[in-house]
This record gives sequence, C-alpha cells and structure tokens, in this order.
Amino acid sequence: MAVKPAVYGNSERPPRGDYSRGGEVAADYTCPQNYAAYTAADHDTYSRLYKRQSALLPGLACDEFIAALPSLGVSERIPRFEDINNKLFKATGWEVVAVPGLIPEVPFFTLLANRKFPVTDWIRKPEEFDYIVEPDIFHDLFGHVPLLFDPVFADHMQAYGAGGLKAHRLGACEQLSRLYWYTIEFGLMRQRGEIRAYGAGILSSAGELAYAVKNAEPQRIMLDVLRAMRTRYKIDSYQQTYFVIDSFQQLFDMTAPDFTPLYQQLRRMKELAADESLPEDAPAGTSA
Ligand code: PHE
Ligand code: CO
Repeated sequence: MAVKPAVYGNSERPPRGDYSRGGEVAADYTCPQNYAAYTAADHDTYSRLYKRQSALLPGLACDEFIAALPSLGVSERIPRFEDINNKLFKATGWEVVAVPGLIPEVPFFTLLANRKFPVTDWIRKPEEFDYIVEPDIFHDLFGHVPLLFDPVFADHMQAYGAGGLKAHRLGACEQLSRLYWYTIEFGLMRQRGEIRAYGAGILSSAGELAYAVKNAEPQRIMLDVLRAMRTRYKIDSYQQTYFVIDSFQQLFDMTAPDFTPLYQQLRRMKELAADESLPEDAPAGTSA
C-alpha cells in the first residue's frame, strides 16, 4: 500500500476506500477518478440523490449555492471531474481531484492551500441511500463543490487550508476542525431576513436540510470563532447547535486574523458540549 488511510474520531472502523488501487494513489493521496469502475447502479444512485436533493433546496439553501449548482454539469450520471474542472478552474482557479476516501490532515490542508478540493470517487450502495457514515462522491461533489464557484468562498477555502497547516504546527488541529465542522460542513447564513444553509453536510442531507433551517429544537447562534472552536460536535446525529453568518465576506473577515493567540487562549478554556448554551451567545433570530 502506497499511502496509509486516515481514521477519524475514535472510530475503530477502517475507512472503506481502497488506498492501494494497484499503485495509482500518489503520495499526495490523489488518484485518477476511476470512471470505468462505476456501474449502472452507481450512476443511478447519483442521479436519484441529485434529483431528490435539488428539489429540496428552494427556501432552504443559500442563493450562492442554488446559483452555482448547475455548474456541476450532468445529473443523470456521475460527472467526470475533468468536465467540472474545465468550468471551475476558469471561474475561481479551483480544481477537484479524486481521492480514495478520507485522507489525513496534512495532505488535506495542503491540497486546499493549493486550491485543489479532494473528492472521494466512490458512491454509496443503494441501501445507504439515506444515510452514509463517511463522505462519498455525492456528499463531496454536491455538498462542497458548488460553492467553490463563489469567489469569496473559494478564497476562504484556500485560507482554511493554509490555516490548517499552521494549526498542525501549533498542535491545534482539533480546534480548527471544529470551526470547519460548524462552518464549511454545518454552517447557516442569514439572507433577506431568513435562515439558509451553506454547509455541505446539511446541503447533501435530505433529512438535516429542513431540520437545520426550520426545526425549533436546535439552537442557532451567530458565529463566534472562539465559541465554535470550543464546541465539541456529534458525528452521528443532527447537530444541536448551528452557527450563523451574514455573508461569506463576513466569514472570510472573521477568520482572517492570526489564530495563534486564539489557540493559546483555547488551551485555558473549558470545552463546551454540543448542546451547551452560554449567556453571551447571540441568537440568530430570523431577521437580519
Ligand atoms: N487566519 C487563520 C490563522 O491564522 C487561518 C484560517 C483561515 C482559519 C480561514 C480558518 C479559516 O490560523
Ligand atoms: Co464534507
């Protein structure tokens, strides 16, 4: 095996991608998109997921996402990364690259810092249609790639990659990964006085999309970078806390300062549970 698979969280479960691929996985964890390996059932799964999810977006997904989604190209079958890249590179200088599954932190951050977004190339089995425990091509493409067409979000993702490499040097990957979780994966934003989703984990989930935006149960608070980095998260249920921004420019600006002093501060602060609330939390309300 050329490269080691990544194992996330405390899971004992081995990641399910094939990390050898007959020597086709490079040292940076990228590999060719194994297009010939997709079966008719795989293409059908993608097409049905795309159809169901895109029908759910109006009124729940942010404008930028809805506007960019058609740029993914074909939806009746799994798109070729090459075709997406022809448009994406022209739009923002980003490219998608195939990977065999989850990859370790440093290679992940390095790809992002170089404006390359790693996309798992395999798709879930039909019996996993509604729920999958690790990201597959549908989550990675449908959830993450449309917003890479947005110039501000695209710059933010690159800055995150560079920030990840710094966090790694400072031993703060866990703190920074919480920010990723509560923004890039599960972030909400206010648009025209209403809550909308921009996080990939929400946008690629049939169940969590309406839950995150509309359900009365979870708390929705305005993003505070330090607060988000203190907050643990659940990987096996809907979120109990969502953090809300007003624009991608605001997210970019809030995360632009050097995090080194924040990481130091965090070391002296206690972590917060996923459902904890603090008196200083600013509720997002429904009008901006
Ligand atoms: N500005 C952060 C730092 O100095 C890096 C970062 C950028 C983190 C964007 C998240 C998002 O470490
Ligand atoms: Co994701």
